Amino acid sequence: MKFFVDTAEIDAIAELNDLGMVDGVTTNPSLIKKSGRDIIEVTKEICELVDGPVSAEVTATDAEEMIAEGRKLVEIAGNIAVKVPLTWDGLKACKALSDDGHMVNVTLCFSANQALLAAKAGATFISPFIGRLDDINLDGLDLIADIRAIYDNYGYETQILAASIRTVNHVTQCALLGADVMTAPPNVIKAMVNHPLTDKGLDAFLADIKAAGIKIL
Ligand code: E4P
Repeated sequence: MKFFVDTAEIDAIAELNDLGMVDGVTTNPSLIKKSGRDIIEVTKEICELVDGPVSAEVTATDAEEMIAEGRKLVEIAGNIAVKVPLTWDGLKACKALSDDGHMVNVTLCFSANQALLAAKAGATFISPFIGRLDDINLDGLDLIADIRAIYDNYGYETQILAASIRTVNHVTQCALLGADVMTAPPNVIKAMVNHPLTDKGLDAFLADIKAAGIKIL
């Protein structure tokens, strides 16, 4: 499973990247706003740091403008994936930019039918939002399972990029369901290391190391 980091914070990306945990990055207008940085400037910096796809989202809502913005975004670096919303205009932009040979991430996906349309429009990635479905009492993970089944039924190559991940359990379930990629905030990725039995076991070993005076160096 590929790990994308869902942030525009350079230090957080760099820390995880140094550990080989970063296969790509996703940003959105809210994350750019949170970073307080200029979109072009911060996206360029992220692309220099990370080898994999870096999603940068368009701001327009009509197809022609989205296409123009997408063509400007891909000039930033060769690893830009243009992020477009799952609207009819977004699908038109997806088709045009994919036909140009660019990576496209179709975002704000909340149904299997939307995912089917994105695959037919040539999307590189489809981003189903798990957490936001959970927020309204639906099961976001069911959507991942449905899209996986549909894409496998017909051999669509669009990669399922599980997004809006809020918990470590979302990560496990997405991996079990066969999502190709998950994007999560740095704190969720780092929390995956935690287990109380690891802490308890280490405390016991440290006590014995001290009691026995065990030294290696
Ligand atoms: C990533 O591509 C999405 O924009 C992001 O995961 C959305 O997450 P949120 O629902 O927590 O804002």
